[in-house]
Amino acid sequence: MFSFAKKSVKRSLSLMASKSAELWKIQTLNQLRYKFNALREGIEINKSEKTVLFNLRRNIHRLEKGLSYPTAKSVFAEDYVTATVKLLSVGLRTDELDEHTICWATSVLSLYFQVVQETPIIKEAKSTFDELLLKLGDSYKKDHVPYLSSKRPDLNISYSELMNLSIRRRSVRYFEDKKVDLNVVKQAYDIAKYAPSACNRQSFQFLFYNEKELVDKLANVPGGVAGYTLPAVIVVVGRYDGYFDVRDINAPVIDASLSIMSFLYAAETLGLGTVCINWPNLPDREKKIRKLLDIKSYEFVIMMIGLGYPLDAGKIPYSAKRPNENVLLFNERVKDNSI
Ligand SMILES: Cc1cc2nc3c(=O)[nH]c(=O)nc-3n(C[C@H](O)[C@H](O)[C@H](O)COP(=O)(O)O)c2cc1C
Repeated sequence: MFSFAKKSVKRSLSLMASKSAELWKIQTLNQLRYKFNALREGIEINKSEKTVLFNLRRNIHRLEKGLSYPTAKSVFAEDYVTATVKLLSVGLRTDELDEHTICWATSVLSLYFQVVQETPIIKEAKSTFDELLLKLGDSYKKDHVPYLSSKRPDLNISYSELMNLSIRRRSVRYFEDKKVDLNVVKQAYDIAKYAPSACNRQSFQFLFYNEKELVDKLANVPGGVAGYTLPAVIVVVGRYDGYFDVRDINAPVIDASLSIMSFLYAAETLGLGTVCINWPNLPDREKKIRKLLDIKSYEFVIMMIGLGYPLDAGKIPYSAKRPNENVLLFNERVKDNSI
């Protein structure tokens, strides 16, 4: 009798637990609905072949990788070269490609067709590409193709200089009452754009604002800036239309974050102080930011960056870092190397 009661309590508890797990899932999905909607919309757009820019960039990147192999295969990319040429053709017709992408794509495709062996598929793709090249003329002729590692520019900053920059760059929260020079922001982004990104898509945007009223409104949406005023803010927005599967949910966040870090360092070298501002995935914040800004259905906010000229008298939190040995582990946590 006692054991029966125990079993029944156990069953009820496990039922409650599974119900609460279900409830948790529903609540979570509801809270994250803006992000998931963006993901769904982005994937739909991508699959309907409406995304030209990001799919072209991805394919050109794949071709470049193939062309960079120590011994390039005589035939490769047959499964996507036709689609790549078509993407270029559609992109040129619809005018949705930037000049850099066009030069890169035409350079890489030209080299590809030079070095691969002609199969029927490759031959047909080449003839379509040649027609495109004829129409384009010489203005897009560039040599934007794989090059030797030794041809990279010489390194002219030292480890200790980089260390100094890392230590100097701290989150700055008190700024001079001075407009941020747009050219400085452009210069900082000139460095940020060299950050790595998944298949070189760069599927994000930096939206810069420096009009006081709007900056104040934007900075107040996420919370986290109580007690200080920002002269300018960048809203970093990710986009999912470059992806065809949910597995890439993190890709734009990673891409943008890598670029953001470069941007912060570059800004520091140009005299700008910066502070990252969290973006909480809360429906009321999502609604607010979408009222203030034109965020597309397939886009989502990643975070914000506050920036301005640091006030010398402003204090900087010390922000001690965790010790290396707690974070950087060498050959540890291997569970089963035999699988
Ligand atoms: C994703 C992220 C969100 C952050 N959100 C805020 C924020 O909302 N408000 C703020 O004052 N600082 C914010 N910060 C700055 C951190 O507090 C700061 O980076 C951290 O304390 C370490 O200090 P340091 O940047 O000076 O090294 C954020 C930083 C990151 C990376």
